[in-house]
Amino acid sequence: ILTYIITALVAYLLGSIPTGYLVGRAKGLDLRTMGSGNIGATNAFRILGKGPGIFVLLVDGLKGWVSVAWAGILVYRLMQGGARPDAQTSEYLRIIGGVCAILGHNYTCWLKFKGGKGIATSAGVLAGLIPIAFLAGLITWIVVCVLTKYVSVASITAAAVLPFATMFGGYSRLMIGIATFMAALAIYKHKGNIERLRKGTENKFGAKKAPPG
Ligand code: G3P
Repeated sequence: ILTYIITALVAYLLGSIPTGYLVGRAKGLDLRTMGSGNIGATNAFRILGKGPGIFVLLVDGLKGWVSVAWAGILVYRLMQGGARPDAQTSEYLRIIGGVCAILGHNYTCWLKFKGGKGIATSAGVLAGLIPIAFLAGLITWIVVCVLTKYVSVASITAAAVLPFATMFGGYSRLMIGIATFMAALAIYKHKGNIERLRKGTENKFGAKKAPPG
């Protein structure tokens, strides 16, 4: 059980690295007070430009992937004198790593627990944990983004597709549960965007301004 707790902590800390905020700060800007006010890749792209946006997307995604693929396994091997976990334990470690990385990103301890929306990090987690759901989410995200020009609508739709993709992909009930939790958290994190979409003030991709939220 200690292995699980330490894995959770390591993954949380990895996820909590506020990439977008740090890149913004390096340029003398605080993303929390600009654009959508979010510290994610979308707002980094919007405010800081293409290069920083892609960098934040990749690093935030990697935080998720590394947490699934490596965090738990490394902690286990360190604590068990080099032994490898069995398949069941390994699955639990990967799930804990992934979920905690997303929580770390969304509720980072470095910014008073106000983090991002977890889309890039969730994508990294899904790529490592449920590749079929990752692919389905990615395709949905790209299609909706191109069609609507709203990144938030693309993220919300991709999240909604996840549980079904996991179900049709033949994954276990546990994985379907995890995918459903991730989807619900992602959609919940977009409540500010949903509010702006209702009011018609959400910014389209490429537009510069949106009230923080
Ligand atoms: O990944 C976050 C995206 O869906 C919305 O970002 O900055 O427009 O709130 P933003």
